[in-house]
Amino acid sequence: MSVEIKSANEIEGIRVSSRMAAETLLGVGEMLRAGITTDAINDFVHKDTIKRGAVPSPLNYKGFPKSVCTSVNDVVCHGIPGKEVIKNGDIINVDVTTFFGGFHGDTSATFYIGPPTKETRHVVETARRALDLGIAEVKDGARLGDIGAAIQTFVESEGCSVVRDFVGHGIGRRFHEPPQVKHYGKRGSGERLKTGMVFTIEPMVNLGGFEVEVESDDWTVRTVDGSLSAQFEHTIVVTKAGCEILTQRPTKLRGSENVAMLLL
Ligand code: MF3
Ligand code: CO
Ligand code: CO
Repeated sequence: MSVEIKSANEIEGIRVSSRMAAETLLGVGEMLRAGITTDAINDFVHKDTIKRGAVPSPLNYKGFPKSVCTSVNDVVCHGIPGKEVIKNGDIINVDVTTFFGGFHGDTSATFYIGPPTKETRHVVETARRALDLGIAEVKDGARLGDIGAAIQTFVESEGCSVVRDFVGHGIGRRFHEPPQVKHYGKRGSGERLKTGMVFTIEPMVNLGGFEVEVESDDWTVRTVDGSLSAQFEHTIVVTKAGCEILTQRPTKLRGSENVAMLLL
């Protein structure tokens, strides 16, 4: 199936749900601290989403049992909230997807619990900068492979690796739709980007090797070598000159975009 070009009305719909997801993620940054369970994060995201008159997209999606994904340390993605208590020194990716007015908006960030260590800071900062570099490639006429190549080149230059088994995706009336957005690959390859395409970029960056495995719960994805993994995600729409980040946050995230503050 080919990649949809969204109408102005559809883009506005995705913009609204994306803004909600971004605001919920900002709220997560405010409530995160050592000693809480991942279930407490789920409760917050669930209630905050419902309060907006929206629905958390993950809940019951292909059988996913909770309203948000919480992925701690060596968990790459799709962590299921539960009784796990987060502690100082951990990193946690919280991936919020909001369904409102018939459209999904999808965004995630990795947070430090307490002051970052040298290692946590390296993998988290690499993932964040990888997303920025991927986004910088987007404009009408560029290729999907340009995004992957920019991300892979940078991540590997930092001594980290890019996960191959999970990709970014088109989004709109469906949570996941074409195209698949690889976070590795060759410049000049892949489909041409066109104004009005809406998709996510969401590089998963490992401190060790790129190999991952799915746990027996059929969801939780971990690094095979047990190394740390970090991820950031935005939903974007392609424009003539570049792109609009639909999940842009109006302010910085507490717990990963204010490292200097954390160290005080
Ligand atoms: N939000 C994830 C993504 O970025 C997908 C989670 S699927 C779920 O694509 F079922 F685990 F929620
Ligand atoms: Co996504
Ligand atoms: Co997501």
